[in-house]
Amino acid sequence: MTQLTLIKEGVNIGGRYRVFKLHKIGGMSRVWLAKDMETGQIVAVKEPRLDQNVVLNVEKIRHEAHVLKRIRHTNIVNLLKALELLRDLNVNGVTVRPAILVLEYVNGPSLLELRRRTDLTHAEILSIMTQLCTVVSYIHKNNIIHRDLKPCNVLTQSTGTGTLCKVIDFGTSRYYFDQTSKEIVVSPGGYTAPEQYIGVSTPQSDIWSLGAILFYLITGKDPIADLPGYPNATQRPPDPARFVRDVDDRLRYVIARAMHPDMSMRYLTAEQMLMDLQGYFREELRPGCIQLAVKGQVYTFDADYIVIGRGDDPNIPIGIYQDSRGVYLLIYDPNKYISRRHCMIFRKGKRWYIRDLGSLNKTAVYRQGFGWIIIHRGYRVESPDFELMNGDIISIVYDEKKGPYLQMSIRFM
Ligand SMILES: Nc1ncnc2c1ncn2[C@@H]1O[C@H](COP(=O)(O)OP(=O)(O)O)[C@@H](O)[C@H]1O
Ligand SMILES: [Mg+2]
Repeated sequence: MTQLTLIKEGVNIGGRYRVFKLHKIGGMSRVWLAKDMETGQIVAVKEPRLDQNVVLNVEKIRHEAHVLKRIRHTNIVNLLKALELLRDLNVNGVTVRPAILVLEYVNGPSLLELRRRTDLTHAEILSIMTQLCTVVSYIHKNNIIHRDLKPCNVLTQSTGTGTLCKVIDFGTSRYYFDQTSKEIVVSPGGYTAPEQYIGVSTPQSDIWSLGAILFYLITGKDPIADLPGYPNATQRPPDPARFVRDVDDRLRYVIARAMHPDMSMRYLTAEQMLMDLQGYFREELRPGCIQLAVKGQVYTFDADYIVIGRGDDPNIPIGIYQDSRGVYLLIYDPNKYISRRHCMIFRKGKRWYIRDLGSLNKTAVYRQGFGWIIIHRGYRVESPDFELMNGDIISIVYDEKKGPYLQMSIRFM
């Protein structure tokens, strides 16, 4: 059988990258090594696999290019170039127009291989987790949820003084409405948060995966080794102390909080998780206050009402303004789907409510056990008030087919 590949050894891509070797075959892609003829450097070239799920794989690589173009971070693999085939391709009767990614080549082992080779010291584990929490916080600030963080999707590079981590594989990430369909993303081993099995992914799902990676770095075992009932009715988070001696209590506690089966009990942000790893996390929630975690950041409000809407200054991702009556939280939205006055959250006594202010694109609340509940009566018509529960997730803009657009986790006492 002939191999269905766009690339083979010896081809020249974009007039610049000469392919010399097949490097890895992933679930949806083939990754090749090539030489950049201008700089002499080795690069990685990723093409969609055309031997199965053609349409989906092509779409995922396109989506990955779209997301990677919008972010740049030392701990994320750098996209050097995205190229599109000049003509449509017919693969077993379906017509596709594949794209190819030219990526920075990361020459070291993935976290999976690194931990298989040797045990890691406490300091090494902390250094890796610090990088991962920082990068997850960064992507959440950009409204991206990775959805498939696991040891083999983190590559490393030795720097002489330590290990530099590079997160890869953004093909199944979520970015506003631009994700690949509503397909469910799950990986074996317990790295996927339980709610992802029912099609829900929130920033707290990535937090679960960070906890799962920490568990693996300590024990060398997949967390599934200690997750009775997973993914249904997981009773408790896994405990690395069942597998190795002398585990630092703080690390055990961080895993327990990050991998709590109830996502409303997990850290609100990767930044909180990082602070807890470093020993200076302090809970700021007090009675009467409400906390909103939006775009990777926690905001604690002492107000009776908070109006949420769209701000138009790209330099102010989140703007907070206050007058005598309450607070205004304005979120910059590149697509302008969020209405200027979209919804409001307010307090009556000890109870908190949400009301859609007649937005164009709806508001919705996700409640564990119930799913997404749409809060909307119509454009320019205010909705009835809906009582919130601690741990609810609000989506500013919601589409029945595409799902949530911008998710905010809320906490109050
Ligand atoms: N930039 C890169 N440098 C080195 N190896 C890479 C790079 N990108 C991917 N790989 C290798 O190729 C494999 C598949 O790539 P990945 O992005 O995870 O695609 P898939 O979605 O098919 O799993 C990875 O597990 C990794 O071993
Ligand atoms: Mg992968």
